[in-house]
Amino acid sequence: MRILRTIDEVRAAVTEARSGSQSVGLVPTMGAFHDGHLSLMRRAREQNDLVVVSLFVNPAQFGPNEDLGAYPRDEAHDAALAEREGVDILFAPEPAEIYPDGFATSIHVSGLTEVLDGAARGAFHFDGVATVVTKLFGIVRPDAAYFGQKDAQQLLVVRRVVQDLHLDVRIEACPIVRDADGLAMSSRNVYLDTDARQQATALNRALDAAARVHAEGEQAAARIVATAQRVLTDAGITPEYLELRGADDLRPLDRVDGDTLLAVAARVGAARLIDNHILTSE
Ligand code: PAJ
Repeated sequence: MRILRTIDEVRAAVTEARSGSQSVGLVPTMGAFHDGHLSLMRRAREQNDLVVVSLFVNPAQFGPNEDLGAYPRDEAHDAALAEREGVDILFAPEPAEIYPDGFATSIHVSGLTEVLDGAARGAFHFDGVATVVTKLFGIVRPDAAYFGQKDAQQLLVVRRVVQDLHLDVRIEACPIVRDADGLAMSSRNVYLDTDARQQATALNRALDAAARVHAEGEQAAARIVATAQRVLTDAGITPEYLELRGADDLRPLDRVDGDTLLAVAARVGAARLIDNHILTSE
């Protein structure tokens, strides 16, 4: 595996692969790899000749009061894990390589970014995500790019950008990877102490409880959400949001309607965590 720092080096490596008709897969990440990240790398490895993983803690998607400074960083460990998954190139640029002086362009997706995490964190967050992902697509020009369903809204935003800007890349969605106790894996789980780690399992338990009442026939959003809310309340968690929305367009729903996203965000101990389940109705 090669660790590359510059856009020119990545371009040269990808151009060489393409000239031999090799397919290129990209896994964008901010590092601190866990099994969620590794599942994306595995999928990319299965489907492509050349696998590029980007490792860039993107300042543009963090607010002034968020955890940019504290975000876990361990490139050497990440490189070892990526190498074990058969990744060909780890692209780990410095911020100035991605945002040189004079950088002045931003990608803004309206609608989708105005709810859930866009409302809770602010519009800057998905502007930062959409901009850096578009830049990575421009740098790597992958055939396919791999994203986790864990960040369901991010996945929709990226799909919207690709469709609206006619980008020639296939977006592959990968299922949420969880720890044995159900907690969705996240780089931010390292912020949890023992008590908060236990408390955090309530997020998935709440979504599971809601999915169960839905499976038993409940269709009303208010009652499904109330079921999840009770589990959170019992665990002492006040969510930032807990909402049912259309899984493809995030429209607000009074009732489950086709693929429906049940999404939650909450502060637990020192971490801000998100999770979701998809409910389906025939
Ligand atoms: P990061 O949080 O590092 O996540 C990188 C990718 O891993 C995302 O597509 C995310 O959805 C996926 N992922 C994280 N936890 C997962 C889990 N438990 N199961 C499955 N997939 C999981 O998301 C970002 O970075 C950034 O916003 C980025 C897209 C790289 C842009 O900066």
